[in-house]
Amino acid sequence: MNSLEGKVVVITGGAGGIGEATARLAHSQGASVVIADLEAGPAEKIAGSLGERARGLAVDVTRREDNEKMVNLAVEEFGRLDAVFLNAGIEGQVGPFDSRSDEAWKTVFDVNVHGVRLGVEAALPALRKAGGGSIVITSSVAGLRGASGLTPYVSSKHAVVGMMRCLAAELGPEGIRVNTLNPGPVDNRMMRSIEDQANPGHGDEVQAAFTSRIPLGRYVTNEECAAMAVLLFSDAATGCNGNTYLVDGGYCAQ
Ligand SMILES: NC(=O)c1ccc[n+]([C@@H]2O[C@H](COP(=O)([O-])OP(=O)(O)OC[C@H]3O[C@@H](n4cnc5c(N)ncnc54)[C@H](O)[C@@H]3O)[C@@H](O)[C@H]2O)c1
Repeated sequence: MNSLEGKVVVITGGAGGIGEATARLAHSQGASVVIADLEAGPAEKIAGSLGERARGLAVDVTRREDNEKMVNLAVEEFGRLDAVFLNAGIEGQVGPFDSRSDEAWKTVFDVNVHGVRLGVEAALPALRKAGGGSIVITSSVAGLRGASGLTPYVSSKHAVVGMMRCLAAELGPEGIRVNTLNPGPVDNRMMRSIEDQANPGHGDEVQAAFTSRIPLGRYVTNEECAAMAVLLFSDAATGCNGNTYLVDGGYCAQ
């Protein structure tokens, strides 16, 4: 079944692990996709490999005009907007609470929180014009649980859960559903960075410690996260609004 036939989806962080997997799956389900990431090259390359119904562009989600540019591209190229996946994010520095500069805190919040806010603001006129749609924000298990050494990241991922709940309440009456995707540790670049920062040269030990807390006994994959995102874009999820959707192998179950 092509669950996204005729739908137009914009994906930020679209050249990263989860973003690329989501772009590929959404496209395979019939969607037209706009892949937005910091550099045009990787985004355009992924779009080029998909062929028709895909475009890539450079977007810094911390810039209002960039967010507007990506929405405009979707509408100009594909005629409408049905779903946005506000997925761009950074892990920032791992370390003690009082070890970071003001700038380091600000950078994480600029991307992970204000980047999402600006994405929602840019998308709303087009979603309203379409008569409704789906906004999916990538939070994390770090949006629901604390983690030693990751305070800015964890705080930012909690913040977007709060934002999502407010937006779900405000936009639900307009038929715009808002939810978060909350992955557990994913087997990709971001977790390698967190592992290596937490214990330089011994990231494998950090990985083993995380894994021991996951009932499935492994990290989840980009593709498993993509499957949940695509479900939330689709009409199979028309009843889903204002919730956190975990893909965590059971990490939060205990
Ligand atoms: N990897 C994990 O274990 C994990 C777990 C839970 C949640 N997440 C979240 O999933 C999302 C996707 O991360 P990922 O795991 O695919 O890692 P990733 O680093 O592969 O992807 C993140 C992407 O965001 C892009 N990006 C960063 N800053 C940007 C900006 N200012 N403007 C536009 N794009 C920007 C990066 O270039 C990158 O392509 C992030 O929000 C991350 O916090 C990841």
